[in-house]
Amino acid sequence: MKKLVITGGKKLNGNISIAGAKNAALPLMVASILTEETLTLSNLPHVSDISTMANLLASIGVDIEIDGTGIDGSLQARTINLKAYEINNSEASYDLVRKMRASILIMGPLLARFGKARISLPGGCAIGTRPIDLHLKAMEKLGAKITLNHGYVDAEAENGLIGSEINFEKVSVGATENVLMAASLAKGETIVNNAACEPEIVDLANCLNAMGAKISGAGTPIIKITGVEKLHGAKHKIIADRIEAGTYAIAAIISGGCIKIKGVELSLFTGFREELEKAGAVITKISDDEIEFKRVCESINPVNISTQPFPGFPTDMQAQFMALMTISNHSKGSASIEENIFENRFMHVLELVRMGAEIELHNNLAIVKGNNKLMGAEVMATDLRASVSLVLAALVAEGKTTINRLYHLERGYENLADKLISCGADISIIY
Ligand code: EPZ
Repeated sequence: MKKLVITGGKKLNGNISIAGAKNAALPLMVASILTEETLTLSNLPHVSDISTMANLLASIGVDIEIDGTGIDGSLQARTINLKAYEINNSEASYDLVRKMRASILIMGPLLARFGKARISLPGGCAIGTRPIDLHLKAMEKLGAKITLNHGYVDAEAENGLIGSEINFEKVSVGATENVLMAASLAKGETIVNNAACEPEIVDLANCLNAMGAKISGAGTPIIKITGVEKLHGAKHKIIADRIEAGTYAIAAIISGGCIKIKGVELSLFTGFREELEKAGAVITKISDDEIEFKRVCESINPVNISTQPFPGFPTDMQAQFMALMTISNHSKGSASIEENIFENRFMHVLELVRMGAEIELHNNLAIVKGNNKLMGAEVMATDLRASVSLVLAALVAEGKTTINRLYHLERGYENLADKLISCGADISIIY
């Protein structure tokens, strides 16, 4: 079982390139189901979730070609061509869905184009039960008939989907994405109220509009979709991964170094840029797609955060920010971290405490008393972001930290160890 052995204490200095966002690429790949023509996506990240999605789409009949490197090896040369000319299977099996919840996203496009879908219920995951009720209610509002059979969702819309007004009682990124894709081919107009506003939603809407959809308001809580007869192929560049970039920004700050991050623009840090600066980061725009993160002050300030849907502090940065707070200057007080999106997204806390962090849990609130006593330990990764928070803590812990179950990291971080090593981190990869 592959593991990382990290020896803390090095200041990280260097340059890191960021690829496309996993959480944008997944719905974009699914959007290929909506047309019989080729959808080409560039700036593709090479992470295991992308391979899982490619396998799922191939299993229902989508033709896929992935070109990993370009002539010049540039990131933009990473392209994937997807062509759903004929779908010979509209079922997503439990074996595939249990590996990746985003599989539920194929429901809307399959219903819109072929009138039926059979998707395994995803089951829970490490960070919570993660139901799909909002997805199912939205599909019913668009005219689909939904039945639950032996752990599967059977959805049918023999006469196609009908535009409707959909009011989400809770903001859901995935459910908003499912509706954007389904309603693009529905008859009539769909209005989505309380829609998710994440940059990944905007990226999906931009790609769908390039395919001939008529979507307005993406990025705001109210989105209008006017259904069209057919969608055509398109070429689309996936937006950069703001969470990957934010993770390396914290690597610079926590280690007291300076990292230039290429391939991202400053606006992608909306929701957590201010908190990083309050903690002591100096953030400098080098160019339109290169941002420098460093810490110049001796200590890190404790900063309170509360995760919220975009443009609030992203839940996907919570674990990483907590790692930073574990070494904040407690003479200035403690940091409170409130997790409002998922009910169990503190799996990293116990492992950080094993490394010497002082954290008290009160339901969805963690109180972090900063100290400088992080010690290396053997720790266990549990989910994607919890895993990377342990890597960040290990960068400044005294001695060696061994991190197991690297497959969690590989779901969303491409060549993480290599990128950190290139900035001076002392990391050994043990096979
Ligand atoms: C997306 O998950 C992301 N995943 C998550 O990133 C991210 O944490 C999350 O959005 C929130 O920003 C992808 O984009 C592939 P939600 P998603 O629907 O769509 C509840 C990562 O680390 N809910 O916005 O599944 C749900 O339980 C991953 O990269 C319902 O109750 O999240 C949660 O409490 C983790 N019913 C809240 O809404 C539903 O039908 C937000 O979930 C759907 C969701």
